[in-house]
Amino acid sequence: MDIARTPATPDGNQHLADAAPEPHDPATIRREDYRPYPWLVPDVALDFDLGLEATRITARLTVARNAEADASDTIRLNGDDIEPLSIKVDGEVSNDWHMDGSDLILPLSGDAHEIEIATAIDPSANTKLMGLFASNGMLCTQCEAEGFRRITFFPDRPDVLSTYRVRMSGPKAQFPVLLSNGNLEAQGDGEEGTHWAQWHDPWPKPSYLFALVAGDLVANSDSFTTMSGREVALNIWVREGDENRTGHAMESLKRSMRWDEQTFGREYDLNLYNIVAVSDFNMGAMENKGLNVFNTKYVLADAETATDGDFDGVEGVIAHEYFHNWSGNRITCRDWFQLSLKEGFTVLRDQLFSQDMGSEPVKRIEDVRILRGAQFPEDSGPLAHPIRPDSYREISNFYTATVYNKGAEVIRMMRTMAGGDAFRKGTDLYFDRHDGEAATCEDFVTAMEDGAGLDLTQFRLWYSQAGTPKIGVRMEHRGDRAILHLKQDVPPTPGQPDKAPMPIPLRIALFDRESGQHDGEQLVTLTKAQESFSFDSISSLPVLSINRGFSAPVTIEREISQDDLVFLAAHDDDPFARYEALQDLVVSHLKAAVSGQLEEAAKRDGEEAITSAFASVLADDSLDELMRGELLVLPSETYLAETMLVADPAAIHSERQALRGAIARALESEFLNLHERAGAVPFGMDAAAKGARKVKTQALIYLAAGNPDVARRRAWSQYEQADNMTDRQGALMVLCGLSGIERTNALIDFYNRFQGNPLVIDKWFALQASSMHPAALEHVKALADHQDFTLKNPNRVRSLYMAMAYSPHAFHAADGEGYRMIADLILALDPINPQTASRFVPPLGRWRRIEPKRSALMKEQLERLAAAPGLSSDTHEQVSRSLG
Ligand code: PHE
Ligand code: ZN
Repeated sequence: MDIARTPATPDGNQHLADAAPEPHDPATIRREDYRPYPWLVPDVALDFDLGLEATRITARLTVARNAEADASDTIRLNGDDIEPLSIKVDGEVSNDWHMDGSDLILPLSGDAHEIEIATAIDPSANTKLMGLFASNGMLCTQCEAEGFRRITFFPDRPDVLSTYRVRMSGPKAQFPVLLSNGNLEAQGDGEEGTHWAQWHDPWPKPSYLFALVAGDLVANSDSFTTMSGREVALNIWVREGDENRTGHAMESLKRSMRWDEQTFGREYDLNLYNIVAVSDFNMGAMENKGLNVFNTKYVLADAETATDGDFDGVEGVIAHEYFHNWSGNRITCRDWFQLSLKEGFTVLRDQLFSQDMGSEPVKRIEDVRILRGAQFPEDSGPLAHPIRPDSYREISNFYTATVYNKGAEVIRMMRTMAGGDAFRKGTDLYFDRHDGEAATCEDFVTAMEDGAGLDLTQFRLWYSQAGTPKIGVRMEHRGDRAILHLKQDVPPTPGQPDKAPMPIPLRIALFDRESGQHDGEQLVTLTKAQESFSFDSISSLPVLSINRGFSAPVTIEREISQDDLVFLAAHDDDPFARYEALQDLVVSHLKAAVSGQLEEAAKRDGEEAITSAFASVLADDSLDELMRGELLVLPSETYLAETMLVADPAAIHSERQALRGAIARALESEFLNLHERAGAVPFGMDAAAKGARKVKTQALIYLAAGNPDVARRRAWSQYEQADNMTDRQGALMVLCGLSGIERTNALIDFYNRFQGNPLVIDKWFALQASSMHPAALEHVKALADHQDFTLKNPNRVRSLYMAMAYSPHAFHAADGEGYRMIADLILALDPINPQTASRFVPPLGRWRRIEPKRSALMKEQLERLAAAPGLSSDTHEQVSRSLG
């Protein structure tokens, strides 16, 4: 087939010229408007006089003209919610300054100056948790992306790199531990029970990587010897009593350090690595140079209080932040449009690390599940944006699954096309060429071309085009040839009505039906809108296994029979493709069932095919339990909705539950056996024991749908006998979806047992909010009034309301009550913590893809939000984009 290929410009952006111009909005920041900062700021000295309610900061900046930028006779320093108490230029008090909005403008006539500015802030009033804030009696900073400007006036942009010297003093009893980036230079006691410490970070860095911590903390200390033989002191700082739950984090850190040496040749570059855990944090963790700040959720773990999933989360996030030391800190971003330069790459690095630490296929399946559950909906909705966005109003709204997870997939595709060794040459060149710089995505791509020997001219479209490509697949057999017909369609997204075809690397295998074998995997790269690929010496129509390992982040729409899917579900030697065949089997059945077009007989046929495929999974001795557990997971309701143009959440929910019930009734004794067999495996952290715990709860989930009475009894005994959180939480989750006294008793026991452990109480909230219990919404309302609920702690807010907003059952209640509750939450939270509030908008933003009745109710809530006075710019941006 001969289809004209649309040429891509090097920038890959030519088609955007056709897009409707956005209305002029001065608050919109555009990538194309980037200009280098007129001043260099080689050195920064900060002096903190610390207090929970009043902290005074004196900042001294040396500045010099930037020869590579346009000259300016003023300097603009960003501020947010601060005022200058005094300003000196070259030691003289200056009154010759003015404010432009919240920025400070100072005239500067010479080539180099020293600027000194004093500010004062109240950390205890900082509920946004950006800048310097108080948490549980300690002081802590969060500066990415634009938090530093809430501490002092500064060019708060990632391309201004400075070395920092930080002095801090404060009451010794209240803040016995004083930490900042880099190395401790000096410390001592001051007057009236105070003490001080002075830190110096030799590596130039942007302000977003600055950190300071002061508090009453204890450390789990260890050390690591780097590949060149340097000893690095490692400390994980937590509140007293938590130190015995930091062992897994410490082991994960040491494994990350070794792995990055071995896999990417990256060695750590300071003699000290500090991690601090805080319980009030908007995100997972932060990679500040030499002083990572973590949400306690990603540090604290022991078997009694953390699930296997939590353990994996700790390992992955510890690795992620550590890997940022090179992909993020040594090489940072020129501007925030380049965010995926550090995040996409670092996510890929942490994924590869976790694949190496555990089961590679299981980790791959989990990562694809996250992509499909979170990123695909983003890419097909009103908030869709390329991994390198072109404009934003609030950068904090762009810490998205697209920038992070799709960004990782894009770099993974380069790795697939280049092969592991050439990819490493590319990353070596990138690290070497750009060390110490603030770089761009374009720099990364060019280094990959030069180092790995790839031509990425057309591939650059993956950086500029949003939307998940849809790949149409048809297989044909003629003579002794098999012909694979592929076509691609990249859907329109906001501001990008027309798309050019992208290169889609697809790993494929052609299975012979008779032998169940194939002659080896091949990489086929579709570069045109339509293209056909021919394979010789094939005697009959093969069964196609495509997008193996999920080699491209696309959706596959293939003409394939149920029999062929059953074949692949049983025979595919690529574990991901095998999982995928089973998922496809279920998805196509449920899509037909939900549409109401499936006749009874056809429905029973479908259920039987699926049941027999599941029976093989349950009986297959060659599978380890971790993989078996993955194969048993049904596609999520969110993902099912995503495969439909317009979704009816209630129909999806009931058909999916009905299918689960049918499978469970047909295979009840198998599930009972599985539950028993897995229950007999003693506790351990090895893969076999983890796998046993996974299938144990999977079995309960099926039993609950097929035979609730049996499930209730089994779940209760699993709960009571649990010697670890994975079993206990799994049993409680199943009980939460059922009614009965066991549910009540287990919830009371769980609360009493773990009262005083906030991370476990978060689980208690989340399990109830996300449960399939018919009264889940009423439960959420009651929990919002619980003494332990507070809007001031992001983990707690998420545990109740994110759980509900992403649980299709409660959120999509037919009368719109779920939508109203989320809108109410957004309005209540926005004045306290706009960053966290705005993250609740996207679930409502799905309205165009939901059946008309619910759609109108969702839109109504968005309109109510849009009309609310005084909305933060974070939330406002998300609401207006969702309606637009
Ligand atoms: N940069 C952090 C990470 O990905 C995430 C983060 C962003 C944390 C913004 C806080 C604020 O590791
Ligand atoms: Zn990151």
